[in-house]
Amino acid sequence: MLMVPLVSMLLLLGSTTAQLSIDYYSKTCPNAEKIVREEMIQILTKAPSLAAPFLRMHFHDCFVRGCDGSVLLDSTPGNKAEKDAIPNLTLRGFGSVERVKAKLEKACPNTVSCADVLALMARDSVWLSKGPTWPVWLGRKDGRISIANETKQLPPPQANLTQLIQMFGVKGLDLKDLVVLSGAHTIGTSHCSSISDRLYNFTGQDNLSDVDPFLEKLYLNKLRSKCSPTDNTTLIEMDPGSFKTFDTSYYKLVTNRRSAFHSDWALLTDSFTRAYVLKHASGFESEFFQDFSDSMIKMGNVEVLTGSQGEIRKKCSVVNK
Ligand code: HEM
Repeated sequence: MLMVPLVSMLLLLGSTTAQLSIDYYSKTCPNAEKIVREEMIQILTKAPSLAAPFLRMHFHDCFVRGCDGSVLLDSTPGNKAEKDAIPNLTLRGFGSVERVKAKLEKACPNTVSCADVLALMARDSVWLSKGPTWPVWLGRKDGRISIANETKQLPPPQANLTQLIQMFGVKGLDLKDLVVLSGAHTIGTSHCSSISDRLYNFTGQDNLSDVDPFLEKLYLNKLRSKCSPTDNTTLIEMDPGSFKTFDTSYYKLVTNRRSAFHSDWALLTDSFTRAYVLKHASGFESEFFQDFSDSMIKMGNVEVLTGSQGEIRKKCSVVNK
């Protein structure tokens, strides 16, 4: 476990996070991080497979309207929320976010935002999966708007490198952030439906040899034996054998063309991202941990609402009355 040095953090953050701070709740809710951590230990002890969904949820929150908890809002009559859009139908763990938020409401009413709760839960998920930990800059406010259609800002698993660079770029995240944050796929599972286009009918020719040519053959056959063309319920481990442990094995999988998504494979198509993948396929875990911490802090600052913007939601799934 690695705690990122504060000085390097300060240099990294520059002025963009001027309104967030590490000790934001030190006076108003001094035990906030401790409460989240204790709840997370209980939640993940009972359901360890929820660590990955919390990490993904924070990513999906930050990429749509910034890290403002908009992914947590329910649809209302007349408005389909982000939560009900296709990329988010495979998210899990909303009930646990509500549970952690309820604990915080009890200890410090109207104080800790849902966006901050999610950022802390994502951080603790990684740490409890034997990955790094980092200081979470706090003080995000919750947004009051969530629109299903805006989830098209989330990169699809079929994305090529140009699309990935563009989609990360508009969020202020660079090539290094892309290759580092993709390393999150060292934990968690994928539905067959997210990869079936690689296994069947890749270019629309509709025959059994029409597969993603960049998927290693033995692995392709293994995935086909698990996922039928129309299966949308079965889960596959993205990092088979170590899908609950946060480590560098994702980069080995990408190197061997055994990663789940075309977007993972795409990291081999640019010289910078390729070099990062190949280097970390052979170890350098502490460097990856440091990089991941840096990039998570950066992602956690995307388009945040601060000060008088937004609100502190009482319940994460509904805006305040
Ligand atoms: C680079 C572009 C990315 C694409 C195209 C992508 C796509 C996907 C897809 C399709 C799934 C499987 C969903 C399912 O079928 O259940 C998934 C899972 C996951 N993603 Fe990504 N992702 C990307 C980047 C990220 C980033 C930046 C993070 C976090 C920092 C992340 C964290 C995760 C995690 C932890 C899972 C496993 C979730 C679970 O076990 O339920 N992904 N991703």
